Amino acid sequence: MLVVEAEVAGCRFPVVGFGGVIVNERHRGRGLAREVVQAALAKAQTLGAAFVILFCHEDRSGLYRKLGFTEVRSDVLVVQPDGLAGMPQHTMWRALSPGATWPSGRLVVHSLPF
Ligand SMILES: CC(C)(COP(=O)(O)OP(=O)(O)OC[C@H]1O[C@@H](n2cnc3c(N)ncnc32)[C@H](O)[C@@H]1OP(=O)(O)O)[C@@H](O)C(=O)NCCC(=O)NCCS
Repeated sequence: MLVVEAEVAGCRFPVVGFGGVIVNERHRGRGLAREVVQAALAKAQTLGAAFVILFCHEDRSGLYRKLGFTEVRSDVLVVQPDGLAGMPQHTMWRALSPGATWPSGRLVVHSLPF
């Protein structure tokens, strides 16, 4: 978990980034990912950002939808060693403060992917 700067339609704002959610193969399907993401959300709410975002393969987006995340529909750019590049994975967001709504427009994440 880290706080990074996002930019949509020229507005920059902090977001919490989640990454590295992995459950040992032998223990999947028992609610452990749900538990760890919910604990991470509780921590993220203390970090002062209105949103959390994550990158995931399409076949895992169902897990995150169940946990209140929504797909970012616009183009997403992230930092790479030689400049900004398109994010090939799905990007998902979730509000951390009541009523926060994701803005429309191209998203630039001013960070390497996490
Ligand atoms: C994806 C992963 C983290 C899920 O862990 P898990 O502990 O088995 O997930 P949970 O048991 O907590 O699942 C919570 C809910 O999400 C659902 N879910 C889990 N994985 C899902 C998936 N890939 N697609 C859709 N739904 C999924 C479960 O069915 C469950 O639903 P329910 O509460 O309605 O029964 C695990 O399979 C994993 O480590 N995969 C490899 C690494 C990885 O892909 N990490 C994610 C990177 S974005």
